[in-house]
Amino acid sequence: MELHISLVGRKDLGGEIYRQLRRAILEGQLRPGDPLPPSRELARQLTVSRTTVTGVYDRLAGEGFVTARMGAGTVVSEHLAPAQSRPKNKRIGDSLRARAIWDAIQLPTVLAKPVRFDFRSGLPDATLFPHDTWRQLMARQLRLEAKGTIVYDSPAGNRRLREAIARHIGVSRGVEASADDVIVTNGTQQALDVIARALLSPGDHIAIENPGYRPARWAFAALGLRVRGVAVDHDGLDVAALPKQARAVYVTPSHQYPLGVSMTLPRRLALLAWADRHNTAIIEDDYDSEFRFGGRPIEPLRMLDRTGRVIYVGSFSKTLLPTLRLGFIVVPPSLREAMHKSKFVADWHTSTTIQAVLAHFIDGGGFARHIRKAREVYRVRHRMIVDTLSRDFSDHLTVVPSATGLHIAAAARTASAEQISGVVLRAFESGVAVQELSKFGVDLPGPPGLLLGYGAIPTARIEDGLRRLRSCFNH
Ligand SMILES: Cc1ncc(COP(=O)(O)O)c(C=O)c1O
Repeated sequence: MELHISLVGRKDLGGEIYRQLRRAILEGQLRPGDPLPPSRELARQLTVSRTTVTGVYDRLAGEGFVTARMGAGTVVSEHLAPAQSRPKNKRIGDSLRARAIWDAIQLPTVLAKPVRFDFRSGLPDATLFPHDTWRQLMARQLRLEAKGTIVYDSPAGNRRLREAIARHIGVSRGVEASADDVIVTNGTQQALDVIARALLSPGDHIAIENPGYRPARWAFAALGLRVRGVAVDHDGLDVAALPKQARAVYVTPSHQYPLGVSMTLPRRLALLAWADRHNTAIIEDDYDSEFRFGGRPIEPLRMLDRTGRVIYVGSFSKTLLPTLRLGFIVVPPSLREAMHKSKFVADWHTSTTIQAVLAHFIDGGGFARHIRKAREVYRVRHRMIVDTLSRDFSDHLTVVPSATGLHIAAAARTASAEQISGVVLRAFESGVAVQELSKFGVDLPGPPGLLLGYGAIPTARIEDGLRRLRSCFNH
């Protein structure tokens, strides 16, 4: 079985791992004779030190739960009778309607052990965030709120913010929308949940890119949808491979996650034509589009759509901070009311304080200035990584061309997914965090390769980090 351990706090990590392993043994998820993951591997997966994991294994061994076997690693002790390893009474959790769905979802693990060279994808540079301006706007907003009466707000969100978002996407992406079309959400993740709840029923098929964005897959699966992976090539989603039962298609056309390719115009038109023929909705996730380092951007699907079937989703997680949990949906008029209700039943509305602060930040020009500044920093990092990979890693990796966003994908030339796993493990041991492309597959593993983000790593550390990564291939 695949063992999932989630660390969501930063305290007593060893204790938390110990309790989860012990529970897995007592409840029979791990049976007598089952191997525990090698300590090195588990340490890397959970980003804790190896000593923490070996400490846990020693404690479990001391208590008789596991046995260390020469050459076979650590296994669950054989002498634990099956009766002992099964709970006597059913727990309430055993009757969860969709046990398999929750078992398949992996909670993100906090990076408990700081790594010196952090190339993980999906993170912006928090040091670029204009904390001082934000703090002033927040203080002003709280002073204002102290004088007024608090009321629940509209599920669609703060009017001023929706106007600001409509203007922003008009300028940056050419998306024509009015404030009435915009719904503010707690990030893309909630946007996908709100959209799917409004639009689809359990059992409906939804197509997503393969490899693709796993949190999207899990959001859809958790609603009881049948998630179908569709291949991606250098032109983006393979439209010809779409299953005709799909009632919705989720895509990342401006910067495919994780490969980074941009969907070509012919593919975009083919996707729209396919969706028209099959009366399918398209969910366009434009998460990374503000950071473009060259070339002309291709129009969003939303602007090419003539039949009102594209639902556009944006996020402030890359442009500002993922911890703010702010995103938005641009909804076709026919779906507006259902989407408002869907957002309402989810959580009524997004924090009014944070929405008001963001509205002032955008209106005052702070947002546009921040994006311009951050783009220049990321442009340099993008160039450095692409140049170094192309020069020093060409015998091992082929860079997937991309001119947008905060990460680069590089496909393995000959190495298998297991060999790349070994590289990632060795890299982690030497303080370099990178991700494996193969982990982003939908039904089957994705292609072997690496994913390198450059939001979290300071520019000055990139060269050194890549040098260390390079040496991890020489084994
Ligand atoms: C494909 C994709 N969409 C959206 C997001 C942002 O998600 P959220 O707005 O929920 O933070 C990410 C972040 O990594 C992403 O990779």
